Amino acid sequence: MCDAVCVSVMETHPFAAAPAGSPTLESLPVEPLLTSEFDVNPGSVYERLRSMYGPVAPVGLMGVPVWLVLDYREVLEVLRNDSVWRRDVRHWRARAEGRLPQDWPLLAGYEVRQTMFFDDDEHRHARLAYHSAMRPFQDGHSPEGWELRAAVAKYADELIAMLAAESGTSGFADLAAQYTRPLLLMVTTKLFGCPVELGDEMVMEMWRMLDGGPDAGPATERALGAMTRLAAHRRFRPGEDLTSYMLLADPSLSDEQLGRELFMNAVYLNDITGNMVCNTLLEVLRGNATVRRSLSAGQIGETVNRAALVNPPTANLCFRFAARDVRLGNFWIRGGDIVSPSVAAAHRDLITAGTSHLVDSAVSTRAHLAWGAGPHQCPSAARELAGTIVSTAVGRVFEHFARAELTLPLDQLPWRAGPVVRGLRLLPVRYELSAHSQAVRVPPARGSDNAVTPVALAEAVPSRQPSRLLGALRRLMFGGRKAD
Ligand code: HEM
Repeated sequence: MCDAVCVSVMETHPFAAAPAGSPTLESLPVEPLLTSEFDVNPGSVYERLRSMYGPVAPVGLMGVPVWLVLDYREVLEVLRNDSVWRRDVRHWRARAEGRLPQDWPLLAGYEVRQTMFFDDDEHRHARLAYHSAMRPFQDGHSPEGWELRAAVAKYADELIAMLAAESGTSGFADLAAQYTRPLLLMVTTKLFGCPVELGDEMVMEMWRMLDGGPDAGPATERALGAMTRLAAHRRFRPGEDLTSYMLLADPSLSDEQLGRELFMNAVYLNDITGNMVCNTLLEVLRGNATVRRSLSAGQIGETVNRAALVNPPTANLCFRFAARDVRLGNFWIRGGDIVSPSVAAAHRDLITAGTSHLVDSAVSTRAHLAWGAGPHQCPSAARELAGTIVSTAVGRVFEHFARAELTLPLDQLPWRAGPVVRGLRLLPVRYELSAHSQAVRVPPARGSDNAVTPVALAEAVPSRQPSRLLGALRRLMFGGRKAD
């Protein structure tokens, strides 16, 4: 049944309607997007779709037809024009008409009403609260910003010291499982002001949700519950953390609504920022001499941009829903149709449109859309913060390592390719610490059952032993103390 917002969109509009007989999304044959070919080489899938359909192609996403926007110009149009391309899932005709498979795995996330899925005044109001709450963390000039940055560097150094304690000055490591994921978990706990027990629960559920398995729906509910309790905790016990500052910025936020906002931020902070760290490390490790030179010249920001262009961590951005019939690419999109803007495909378009020097050069482009564009783009404070985390995380690795090389050929690196995110499952390297690295001098925490070792971290990847990983991190961050 179509609810109020859908009805108001569908009823009247002064614009042209799609010409009779032009194909509808439902009438077109679609090929499923998420195939093993897409896992390994999404670029070839985007190219094929583009050659068959042009800048916009119909695809199947877990059994539901979706318009995939492939070309840079069209993606930018969709991102920028939020009066036509709406965010609120209630605009989606197929959902309103009850035509979706009941257990469609992506729906649970889209039903969570938070800033990303707001339109108009509700959206503007929520963004203002974000700007104000995030400002103290935006740069290193405020005490909170300085402390967070110092903490990121300290956590990074401690994780590398653990590698050194376990394997000595040279050895093997998985920089995704043993470095990036624990680092982001520690940063989230600090930024959100999580009592650690709550952090454990929240993060385990989030991983389950993002992996899109059969438990994704219930895990989303449980993660939201954990975030709501965090919001309630900080309302009574405010600290110098994002949760408390969100409440200061908008005291009318209920615990439930703040829980929903934190939930979305936790995804960005853990999964998306983590992917950007790994993708940037990969960009350096894959051996392009220009990139390595630029890194040693202190231009990490350029390397981050370049990695964001080649491998954007959010490959396909959140769905948009057409407010009315509108022409895009070679098709008429009908009011209420679902559209997925593909940043990864748009970047490919940019690179192949005669500007391929961009990826071969260390002078990378800022034209990448990894932060989004238009009214819903990543808020500037969040971008600054995420950029600092990525630069610090990458910088500390190459500060400590004299040598690091991939132990798998590039085409054998395992990628996790979902409908939204594309990230490395593993980043296996052989490393050698530099003689002056302080990591060499940090004493190993041996001889105790509680010792936190890189092997403990790697073996405790979330799908296998979440509680072991989280226990290890708790000991590393708080040394057995209880956080408030
Ligand atoms: C490298 C890390 C990050 C990347 C690549 C990234 C990217 C993005 C992108 C592409 C969007 C727009 C999504 C769309 O239009 O569909 C977005 C929105 C957003 N991001 Fe980030 N982000 C990152 C880190 C963060 C962090 C650390 C936070 C907060 C702690 C954050 C908070 C937000 C918020 C609140 C929005 C929603 C804005 C709105 O809808 O108005 N992001 N981000």
